[in-house]
Amino acid sequence: RFKAVIFDLDGVITDTAHYHYLAWKRLAESEGVPFDEAFNEHLKGVDRMGSLDLILARGSRSYTQDEKLALADTKNRHYQQLIATMTPDDLLPGALRALEEVRAAGLKTGLASVSKNAFTVLDRLGIRDRFDYVVDAARIANSKPHPEIFLTAAQNLGVAPGDCLGVEDAVAGVASIKDAGMYAVGVGSPEVLTRADRVIPSLQKFSLQDY
Ligand code: BG6
Ligand code: MG
Repeated sequence: RFKAVIFDLDGVITDTAHYHYLAWKRLAESEGVPFDEAFNEHLKGVDRMGSLDLILARGSRSYTQDEKLALADTKNRHYQQLIATMTPDDLLPGALRALEEVRAAGLKTGLASVSKNAFTVLDRLGIRDRFDYVVDAARIANSKPHPEIFLTAAQNLGVAPGDCLGVEDAVAGVASIKDAGMYAVGVGSPEVLTRADRVIPSLQKFSLQDY
C-alpha cells in the first residue's frame, strides 16, 4: 500500500549513532558537562548545533557564538575520525536486504538524515546508488523533530506523504515522520519509540508485508 520508504541513516542503516555518541561524550566531558546514554537519547536525530545547545545547557556557564562554533567543529573532527575507516562491512544486519526488498516491490527509496556527513557515510558504505533521493541536510532549515526533512524527501520522490513509510531509531525522528503524516517504523525499543506505528529491534525484522 506504500509507494516509498524513507530511511534514516545514523542508527538505522549503520551504527554511526554510536560514533556520534562517542564524539559528543568526548566533547561534553572536556567541558565538564555530564554525559551518558540516557541523555544521548535526546540528541539522536537532532542536528549538530541543536545537540550542542542541549549539551551546553547542562553545564554551568554560557558560551559565545564563536565558542559554540569552535566546539561544534571539534566534535565534528572527532566524528570524522571515527567514520574515516568505515567500509561496507559496517552496514547493520538486514540493512541491504531491506533496501533491496523495497526496490524489488517497486517502491521508491529515500534517505532523510540531518547529518552533514551523510553523503560521506553513504559513500564509505557503498550504497549511495541504492537511494532514489537523498536529502541534502545543508538545505534543511528545521532539524528533526520538525517534519521538514521527511516532507522534502517525499516531495522529491514525487510521492504524497500519506503514501510514505519512514524508518527511524530516534524519538525526534519518529516525531518528524508522524508529523509529516507518514507511517512510522521504529528501530529500537517500544518503550522509547512510543509514537511509532510499529517497532522492530533491527532492520533484520523489516518486512513490507507487516505494515
Ligand atoms: C543525526 C544524528 O543523524 O545527525 C545526530 O542522529 C547528529 O546524532 C546529526 O548530531 C547531525 O550530524 P552531523 O554529521 O551533521 O554533525
Ligand atoms: Mg538515527
